[in-house]
Amino acid sequence: MSRTVYVNGEYLPEEEAKISVFDRGFLMADAVYEVTSVLGGKLIDFAGHAERLHRSLALLDMRQPVTDAELLAIHRELVARNGIEDGLVYLQVTRGNPGDRDFAFPDPDKVKAGIVLFTQSKPGLADNPAAKTGMKVISIPDIRWGRRDIKTVQLLYPSIGKMMAKKAGCDDAWFVEDEGVVTEGTSNNAYIVKGGRIVTRQLSEDILHGITRAAILRYAREAQMVVEERAFTVAEAQAADEAFVTSASAFVMPVVEIDGVALGSGAPGPVTRRLREIYLEESRKAAI
Ligand code: PDD
Repeated sequence: MSRTVYVNGEYLPEEEAKISVFDRGFLMADAVYEVTSVLGGKLIDFAGHAERLHRSLALLDMRQPVTDAELLAIHRELVARNGIEDGLVYLQVTRGNPGDRDFAFPDPDKVKAGIVLFTQSKPGLADNPAAKTGMKVISIPDIRWGRRDIKTVQLLYPSIGKMMAKKAGCDDAWFVEDEGVVTEGTSNNAYIVKGGRIVTRQLSEDILHGITRAAILRYAREAQMVVEERAFTVAEAQAADEAFVTSASAFVMPVVEIDGVALGSGAPGPVTRRLREIYLEESRKAAI
């Protein structure tokens, strides 16, 4: 069945939606994006995603083509038109179409940024069976650019990382730099748990400031869990009791093996399971 998508002010069947070949998102990966999950037909943490979008756009001197209220209305309209119960809404803002390929940015007041949104239906998203068994990850060098805090669509290396993991019979990859220090996963933030303490890398330009990460750390602290925001190595992770990743589409997903080494009992641990439960419960309550 054909989806309805949103492109620059219009709701269109997906087959009719078009973007110019001169669009800088297409030619230069000059675009930013957000992924907001949908549970029970409602948006999870829309405000957090809108806020990060503002930040990405501001850091790249791009203008948001619609207001936040319009953005929310478009999200809701697409969820309704496509009958999304569980799934996600993908949003991309591109610097647009200056008419020619040119390394210099066009004047943002003359060339309007483009905007595209579409939905992906994922029935039973919150009941992903992988949450019961856990994921196996490999570590690979982090050779991405130095501004990973800006959510750009430059996703070729993360895609290659995912393929390397698949080839190794695993589910995902963790990026490492500086002698085995973990930055984050291909499309998620990484955590370990040791002696009940939750450890995740501190915010900087080296990682994406996950919206799910912010929520998880808040819920963990509210539940009197100890959180340490600092870097950790693959070796430390392999010796941890538990590990997990967070993202808008995976929520809290256990990691049970890193580079062939099983963690703890080799099954998802109690802290991870509890955090997943709390996250799903609280975010459903706050969904709009
Ligand atoms: N990825 N780190 C990276 C590199 C990511 O791509 C993502 C999200 C995250 C988690 O951020 P959040 O909790 O805000 O989803 C961390 C999205 C889901 C994607 O690319 O599909």
